[in-house]
Amino acid sequence: MSMDLSRREWLVGGAAVAGTMLASSLSQAQTVPEPNLNPTADNPIRAGFNENVYGHSLRAKKVMLEAAEKAHLYDFGSQMQLKNVIAQMENLPGDHIAIGNGSTPFLERAAFACAIAGGKVLAPAPTYNSVLGTARMLGIESITVPVGEDLHIDLAAMRAAMTDDVKLVYLCNPNNPIPSIIEKNALRDFCIEMSKKAMVLIDEAYYEYVDNPDFASMKDLVTEHQNIIICRTASKIHGFAGVRIGFAFAHPDTMKKISSPFNISLANVAVAGAVESYQDTEYMNFVKQKNRECMDILEKMFEDLNLRYVKSNSNFAFFHAGRPSTEVAQELRKHHIWSGRPFQPYTDWVRMSTVKPEEMQYVADKYREIFG
Ligand SMILES: Cc1ncc(COP(=O)(O)O)c(C=O)c1O
Repeated sequence: MSMDLSRREWLVGGAAVAGTMLASSLSQAQTVPEPNLNPTADNPIRAGFNENVYGHSLRAKKVMLEAAEKAHLYDFGSQMQLKNVIAQMENLPGDHIAIGNGSTPFLERAAFACAIAGGKVLAPAPTYNSVLGTARMLGIESITVPVGEDLHIDLAAMRAAMTDDVKLVYLCNPNNPIPSIIEKNALRDFCIEMSKKAMVLIDEAYYEYVDNPDFASMKDLVTEHQNIIICRTASKIHGFAGVRIGFAFAHPDTMKKISSPFNISLANVAVAGAVESYQDTEYMNFVKQKNRECMDILEKMFEDLNLRYVKSNSNFAFFHAGRPSTEVAQELRKHHIWSGRPFQPYTDWVRMSTVKPEEMQYVADKYREIFG
């Protein structure tokens, strides 16, 4: 780690500490962990799962440890607190917000609601698999619409594929595994139009990473349009993938179909951590900056090796390796680097998640060494 970097990382930790008067017993946790430049089978570089390898913000970590002391109690107070934080941040009424154990429960329940309505799902391909996988499990049909030549979601083709029996339209924006976005005005029109015929679910799992004037969250639509659901997650920029917090934004009548009437299944540790994490803009900016540094490293490698790639709006890249992604994964695994799984039909493209910039440079160096 360079002195410059460690100093900057210390500053982020230090400011967070000052803000929350972290107990001295936690002082070890003040520094951002060292990058993993000697990966092993037990401690690989995890560039395969779109996680935040920096973990939680120090502010979140502190309150989570405190909340663990009260984990034997039902805790409805902190749920209200979290809802208020999100309501204020997003400028939404509290009754339009539901909290879940990640966003997956909402994605799954939307598929359940579609099945109950006896309908089909309409979605682009490739995209995130939760809704389509649940639909498959429930035995309901899905209509999938290939992304365009430019690998962007093709709204015109989706419109053309819409039928009367589609009861759920799923869009992931930014998409996954292709980190493209849908232009905001076109998406807004599409959502409003489709919501007259079916439920529309926009999965904004990666929205915090987007730095693109053509992007906008569709969250504002939920107050005016009953059939629109927005899903968000703390699993990405907040590092809560293993802690589990996510959100749905929707009209209260729609919320009844996709959320529990009595939310007893949230973990108090997770909720308390999220209250803090969502207010820690310094940490979010830090992670976003590190993500940008990683993306610069990857994009330089793509340019140098003349590999086609999709400009990323997220915490992962998608590039044309020109060889099976299984082969890339296998070779990188020999060096204890994990990369993304294959995504049909783009089996010679690779999804690579960002890690810490030093680790990303290590990955890029190894990639050049093996395939360059
Ligand atoms: C687009 C998308 N939505 C949802 C999820 C799952 O989120 P959660 O951990 O909140 O259940 C992921 C996880 O990778 C994802 O990529």
